[in-house]
Amino acid sequence: MAIRMDRIVFLIIAVALLEGATSETKLFKVGDDYGWRVPDNKSYYESWVRDKKFEVGDSLEFNWTGTHDVLEVTTKTDYDACVKTNGTPNNTSPVTINLTKNGTFYYICTIGQHCESGQKVNIVVENGSSSSPPISAVLSTITIVAASLVHLCSFLLY
Ligand SMILES: *[C@@H]1O[C@H](CO)[C@@H](O)[C@H](O)[C@H]1NC(C)=O
Ligand SMILES: *[C@@H]1O[C@H](CO)[C@@H](O)[C@H](O)[C@H]1NC(C)=O
Ligand SMILES: *[C@@H]1O[C@H](CO)[C@@H](O)[C@H](O)[C@H]1NC(C)=O
Ligand SMILES: *[C@@H]1O[C@H](CO)[C@@H](O)[C@H](O)[C@H]1NC(C)=O
Ligand SMILES: *[C@@H]1O[C@H](CO)[C@@H](O)[C@H](O)[C@H]1NC(C)=O
Ligand SMILES: *[C@@H]1O[C@H](CO)[C@@H](O)[C@H](O)[C@H]1NC(C)=O
Repeated sequence: MAIRMDRIVFLIIAVALLEGATSETKLFKVGDDYGWRVPDNKSYYESWVRDKKFEVGDSLEFNWTGTHDVLEVTTKTDYDACVKTNGTPNNTSPVTINLTKNGTFYYICTIGQHCESGQKVNIVVENGSSSSPPISAVLSTITIVAASLVHLCSFLLY
């Protein structure tokens, strides 16, 4: 019985650690080393987005040198038409944006014709593993579950 108990507790802890590992949040540097600037072609940031998975809890970092900024626009219409007047752009690099909810989010540069030239990015944020509870919460749950099991087993044995 004692051995079986050890195994149960071990299993629970292993599962918790695994869950903690997959719920790690990610920081995406927009454009990677290329950064946030007027791209070589209009589909540059579209291509950058293509192989990535954004989840609630992750964040974006827009980093640049020179004259650029970041404005979040709330509609696809404004994004497609590069409407630069709905909101206040942030012009202090690096700009970090926490992805706190799912949905589609649009970011453009409002300087000159930068947006028209492709300095814009739209991302789809999904509720993923990152939205699972943090490791501390998981661990305290495990402690409680494990303690209850120990309690239950000693009760059954004696
Ligand atoms: C745009 O530029 C990027 C980086 O240079 C490249 O990977 C991508 O294939 C280009 N896309 C087109 C449509 O030329
Ligand atoms: C921003 O990018 C520059 C290179 O363009 C780099 O030297 C710098 O470390 C980056 N800053 C951050 C906060 O990532
Ligand atoms: C701009 O972004 C920086 C870094 O994310 C942030 O500290 C600052 O408050 C932002 N400024 C505005 C006006 O939103
Ligand atoms: C984004 O998240 C980080 C880490 O949790 C936090 O320090 C920062 O204040 C957040 N920024 C905003 C703009 O909410
Ligand atoms: C997914 O995210 C939405 C909005 O951010 C939230 O209302 C919903 O409860 C989430 N669903 C799950 C299953 O986490
Ligand atoms: C957000 O997540 C919830 C639950 O997973 C889903 O029902 C909803 O459609 C999502 N919303 C968007 C905009 O993806």
